[in-house]
Amino acid sequence: MITAHTKFDFTSMAAEYDRCNHLFSLGIDHLWRKKLVRAVYPYPHQRILDLCTGTGDVVYSFLKHSPVQNITGADISESMIDLAQKKQIRFSGKRWLNNKNVVWRMADAAQTGLDMESFDIVTCAFGIRNIPNRTAALSEIHRILKLKGKLCILEFSLPANPLLRFPYNFYLNRIMPLLGKWVIGDKEPLRYLAQSIGGWHTEVDFSNELAGAGFKLIRKTSLTGGVVTLWLAVKN
Ligand SMILES: C[S@@+](CC[C@H](N)C(=O)[O-])C[C@H]1O[C@@H](n2cnc3c(N)ncnc32)[C@H](O)[C@@H]1O
Repeated sequence: MITAHTKFDFTSMAAEYDRCNHLFSLGIDHLWRKKLVRAVYPYPHQRILDLCTGTGDVVYSFLKHSPVQNITGADISESMIDLAQKKQIRFSGKRWLNNKNVVWRMADAAQTGLDMESFDIVTCAFGIRNIPNRTAALSEIHRILKLKGKLCILEFSLPANPLLRFPYNFYLNRIMPLLGKWVIGDKEPLRYLAQSIGGWHTEVDFSNELAGAGFKLIRKTSLTGGVVTLWLAVKN
């Protein structure tokens, strides 16, 4: 049963996911995904896997902002994959989608069923925090990546500067759940977001986890004052 391996079932808010994402990040989420694409900048022939792909925005960012030809988007939620596919239909006719090989599949990041050493690049944006068995997911990513293959992770974090952290925490914990109630009629998804970001930031030493899974950290970059962190690592 693959739906057991997630901390929050995004199926319940799939239809509203994009709207919330763009609204609550004030539209900056597109720039964060573009930074991820630039960080791994692929050659046209390289094979890319985007895990926890959701509605596919990282996949579409690669197609728009890089020469990649082959890309797979995988997610544990069927509803999210459906939306990603519907977007592809909406985008058909766009020049950046011409002659590109895009594959969508339902898969648990901790057990993808994909072939060993079959990808040059694996990415995961705002997903790793939601996977309960991160050790298994990192070891699975290590298995499916080719030697020296790149792993790039984007995840929410908290600003180091207290002058930014205090207002950001207030926005995250107080304002966002209220906006959630107003926009999608439910505070819960935004409460989960705030709690999971706080827990992830304070309790997880992700650089160390990457090393433990056999990755060499190339760089860790804070984006937008530390609201988001980008990790770039290679398979040793
Ligand atoms: C916050 S969304 C991020 C979506 C997308 N990457 C983006 O940039 O907007 C997290 C996604 O991770 C997926 N997810 C959670 N646990 C997962 C797992 N164990 N394996 C694969 N996908 C998972 C959820 O279904 C959801 O679509």
